[in-house]
Amino acid sequence: MHHKYRMGEEISLVILIPSLLHCHGQHRNLLRHLSRRQDCLSSSPSDVTYTQHGVTVADPYRWLENLNSEETKAFVEAQNKTAAKFMNKFEDKQKFKDRLTELFNFERFGVPRKRGDYYYYFRNSGLQSQHVLYQLDTPKSEPRVFLDPGALEADGTASLKTHSFSHSGKLMAYVISRSGSDWCTIYLMDCHGNKLDDVIEWVKFTQTAFTHDDKGFYYVTYEGLNVDAVKAGTETGADLNQRLLYHKIGTPQSEDVLVHLDRDNPSYRFIPKISDDGKYILMTIKKDTAPASMLYIGDLETANNIITLGHNWNKIVDCFKFRYYYLTSDGTVFYFDTNKDAPRSKIVKYDLSKPEEGFIDLVPQSEDVLVNSSVVDGNKLVLTYMRDVKDIIVVDLWAAPPSDPSSRRHTWRYCRRPYDFGVEDQEKRLSIFREISVKNFDSTLFETKQVFYESKDGTKIPIFVTHRKDLVFDGNNPTFLFGYGGFSSSLKAGFTFAHIVFMQHFGGVVAVANLRGGGEYGQNWHSAGTLLNKQNVFDDFQYAAKYLINEKYTQASRLAINGQSNGGLLVAACVNQAPELFGAAVAEVSGLDMLRFHKFTIGHSWQSEYGYPDDTVEDFHNLLKYSPLHNVHKNKPYPAFALFTADHDDRVVPLHSYKHIAELQHTAGPLTRNPLVLRTATKTGHGEGKPLAKRIEETTDKFAFIAAAIGATWRD
Ligand SMILES: *[C@@H]1O[C@H](CO)[C@@H](O)[C@H](O)[C@H]1NC(C)=O
Ligand SMILES: *[C@@H]1O[C@H](CO)[C@@H](O)[C@H](O)[C@H]1NC(C)=O
Repeated sequence: MHHKYRMGEEISLVILIPSLLHCHGQHRNLLRHLSRRQDCLSSSPSDVTYTQHGVTVADPYRWLENLNSEETKAFVEAQNKTAAKFMNKFEDKQKFKDRLTELFNFERFGVPRKRGDYYYYFRNSGLQSQHVLYQLDTPKSEPRVFLDPGALEADGTASLKTHSFSHSGKLMAYVISRSGSDWCTIYLMDCHGNKLDDVIEWVKFTQTAFTHDDKGFYYVTYEGLNVDAVKAGTETGADLNQRLLYHKIGTPQSEDVLVHLDRDNPSYRFIPKISDDGKYILMTIKKDTAPASMLYIGDLETANNIITLGHNWNKIVDCFKFRYYYLTSDGTVFYFDTNKDAPRSKIVKYDLSKPEEGFIDLVPQSEDVLVNSSVVDGNKLVLTYMRDVKDIIVVDLWAAPPSDPSSRRHTWRYCRRPYDFGVEDQEKRLSIFREISVKNFDSTLFETKQVFYESKDGTKIPIFVTHRKDLVFDGNNPTFLFGYGGFSSSLKAGFTFAHIVFMQHFGGVVAVANLRGGGEYGQNWHSAGTLLNKQNVFDDFQYAAKYLINEKYTQASRLAINGQSNGGLLVAACVNQAPELFGAAVAEVSGLDMLRFHKFTIGHSWQSEYGYPDDTVEDFHNLLKYSPLHNVHKNKPYPAFALFTADHDDRVVPLHSYKHIAELQHTAGPLTRNPLVLRTATKTGHGEGKPLAKRIEETTDKFAFIAAAIGATWRD
């Protein structure tokens, strides 16, 4: 479940004792030392306040919002040094790092996909900083390197955000991010590996949608952007006024054609897609991360493939109520995966020539959650459902009538049956493409159980618990609890190397809780953890901790919690609400100032998830109640708590973590004997595209911090 950084994602925008006792004295001294340093660095808390909805809010660390000031840089560096002391305390840190490196060092592959005349797949020989895209003549032939993003920068900090091939497969557009930023550059390459001269700079949250004539593509960028600030890599300004543009291949970016913008609605984002037959452009309009979009369709044939501003779009859906994913189309008949009146999703069709019929159900909603739908082999629709957080490989097949198997002109017929890929064509038989193996790991010694515990309000919450089969339930096992609980994102029992090391070498328990706010049971489950219901997510996580303690897996002092992005908010909120439940906590790339989150970069789009602090009094008061920055206790001791952030995180800007650590040290610090620290990674962003070496270094720091805090010891 690596790197589920989901805040605002859908276009890849689409978020651990007893040994503590003997180190208490040391911690206290270090902390005093730190507090002193803090005071002189920060010129102590300032008296900045602001008044909102009649409430005066203190914002003493507002100065840390200025990421480029000398004071902020000095603060971040000093914090980082202190953090390093605690992360280096764990004496077997090098062993952890070596083992993690060993686990990563195996050859891994993606699935080959055919584009034009060739096949392509991603491969990593083991410790390469970024996956390499290979080209093959046939699925079994000798691969050639097609694009190696890791080679673009010496330290591997350039990464491939997304890529797409033109319909003919003759051209590929690839979107490169540097230092993990959301700001990217688009480049083009032909299928023979020749790079074109076209370069499109300063794009953000974009897809590239080629027209079928191979003459150009649609993409998005932002208007009025301050390139100098962006170049510094630490820009925090709001992403507003997106523009949809058309780039004609062989012409400079300055000549790109403006297709669409909406100055009255600066937060809108536009996602272009060309229909499978190349005749239409679909523009999905989103205003936030809610699963709701508008849908406009443009006729490319009459526009000669180049749509210009003021185009007369066919506004199929003109309000934000439900979302529509384009699956395919057959002439004027379009197929969508939608949540329209279906919180667990379904498949519908829409005929442009019969708009009065509206959306017609093709595969109605089922008891299970439809989590993926895709068209394979031109005319078959494969649907994947999830039941209790497990994919049930129910493969529903919608096939063309047998009398006319080659034609795309058909209406799909429902024939729910297991699909035998071997029936008509030996080549299509399901087979193992390549096998991977993990060094020195015997999975038969471990077990994963899914259990359901009761949360505060009695709701049953699923949780995956994994550990050695011979675990002793003595309430003393090092335990690592992970959660997310937001943005409709589902956490499945995954394969994470750090977890393996934790279980194998610390004798630890790894628990992954499927909190409300996620997508595990469809839209209702998501809604039950958003807006005024957000506290449910925090309750679910705290009750997961209580469950693990009650069932004698562990005890509070040996329990570590961790989350990233929205999951970092979760961790920080739970630490404030129930510090006595945890021995250690690590909150990564987190949103923590929940009264100002909407002011920075793409933060405004999360208001549908968290609430509208400026516009809605009720939301403001709800946020004020749980916002981590505004709820630090001065009269309760805190567990060991590390905030991890990154200097180029322009998704959830690092100032959240800067302000929060200052607040924690100032307010909780005096009564807390455990370390409260901030680690800021350099030349990295929110998570995607992080080079492997940095991932290993960061994960090692995280688990070294946790191990020292909960007294986990290494066994070979
Ligand atoms: C479904 O899975 C396919 C194949 O992995 C992927 O390309 C597609 O984006 C997924 N669709 C959705 C709606 O997540
Ligand atoms: C913080 O420490 C980490 C780990 O040593 C290092 O990679 C990073 O560059 C440091 N960050 C800063 C801002 O000095």
